[in-house]
Amino acid sequence: MAVVVLVPGMVTGARVVGTTPGVQFNEAELQLLQTFGPWPATPPPDPGNRLSGKAWAEQLGLQLFHDPDLSGDRSISCATCHQPSRGFADGKALAEGASAHVRNTQSLWNAGFQRWFGWDGGGDSLWAAAIRPMLSPIEMNGDITDIARRLRSKKFFTSALGDADPPVDDASDEALFVFAAQAIGAYTRILVSAETPFDRFRRSLLQPGSGDVNYPLAAQRGLKIFLGPANCHVCHFGANFSNQEFHDTGRPFFSAVGQVDSGRYTGIKRVRGDRYNLSGPYNTTGVAAEIRKTKSVKLNQQNFGQWRTPSLRNLIHTAPYTHDGSLATLRDVVDAYADINPDRLHSNGEAILKPLPLTERDREDLVAFLRSLSAE
Ligand code: HEC
Ligand code: HEC
Repeated sequence: MAVVVLVPGMVTGARVVGTTPGVQFNEAELQLLQTFGPWPATPPPDPGNRLSGKAWAEQLGLQLFHDPDLSGDRSISCATCHQPSRGFADGKALAEGASAHVRNTQSLWNAGFQRWFGWDGGGDSLWAAAIRPMLSPIEMNGDITDIARRLRSKKFFTSALGDADPPVDDASDEALFVFAAQAIGAYTRILVSAETPFDRFRRSLLQPGSGDVNYPLAAQRGLKIFLGPANCHVCHFGANFSNQEFHDTGRPFFSAVGQVDSGRYTGIKRVRGDRYNLSGPYNTTGVAAEIRKTKSVKLNQQNFGQWRTPSLRNLIHTAPYTHDGSLATLRDVVDAYADINPDRLHSNGEAILKPLPLTERDREDLVAFLRSLSAE
């Protein structure tokens, strides 16, 4: 088995090596690392959204994203919770909109790479994930008729209608409202975060001479733990560090108000009952495989307490963590995995997670690695 030894300034065989001694990556690890890039990447089109990928629609979506007129009392915009300066999250454990939410605000960085949206996957497109908060009484508490009336009075909006081909039925409140949501979906799709120290290090290992080898030793050791004994890569997989699936990681499923939040179990019910899902009347592309995704999703008992695997990119900007914001720091997250109580895992099939014999230094190394997945 070929081993790359990282020694300052040294070059072995075809590979450029790191700046610090002692950390070795074997062939299996290097192969695994291939799958964590390249980055930045381009997300697939927003499903069911014919505005996706159109520059004028992305621009319109950006304006609407910051527009509080999309909320009932005109005080809350998407950016109230998804603040660009806070990694498109809000820094709070639980979101606060028109009233108190039971979940943490998700970052919107790289959301376009997912298949299901929301911690519970209750949305099947970015535009459906924009409609939900507008109409939700605990988020923006808006109303389709009011929102459509306000949209009709905005010059930037009505002039964009002229770009829509085929034209939108501008007599229909609902059609105008969905058009606005699809423009927002087009905008949120392009929120792709920048290259990170990890990406440059990965390139330096895989394509000699093309990356930055000035990558901290602690992060290198953390990467080995991530790929090896801790099994993190099994779920946090691929260039966006998410397998796009749902798992139970032993986090609490009682919500702040003392009620159960059943995660994916609720999400499947939500997405199937959603008028704005991909099998509904407002899918504007009609791609068969995308409609099938939504039609074929099945509810299982094991979905109870499962949450969507989040991306691990840009975490230094998006604390606190997990669906209920109950872990304040990255160290808290690492400790929660290392000291996991297997009895807490209430669904089947999560045999990957077990208590990890990690030393104090191992834990800090894993944190250093996680931090290196953020763009400065
Ligand atoms: C009150 C705060 C709040 C507001 C306002 C808000 N969101 Fe969110 N957003 C959240 C929370 C909380 C979640 C997680 C929801 C869940 O799990 O069901 C979320 C999730 C999302 C997601 C899914 C991300 C992913 O990775 O799956 C998208 C997309 C999104 N919001 C877009 C928007 C857009 C667009 C608007 C404006 C139309 C908006 N949000 C308004 C709090 C908010
Ligand atoms: C079985 C799949 C699985 C494995 C293995 C796994 N994770 Fe996760 N991870 C998840 C899921 C699902 C969540 C969301 C949990 C929640 O919201 O309650 C999560 C959440 C996180 C978060 C919080 C991110 C955020 O935006 O809130 C971090 C950080 C994280 N995991 C790191 C790790 C590390 C480090 C390891 C290895 C020690 C690991 N994960 C192993 C599935 C997994």
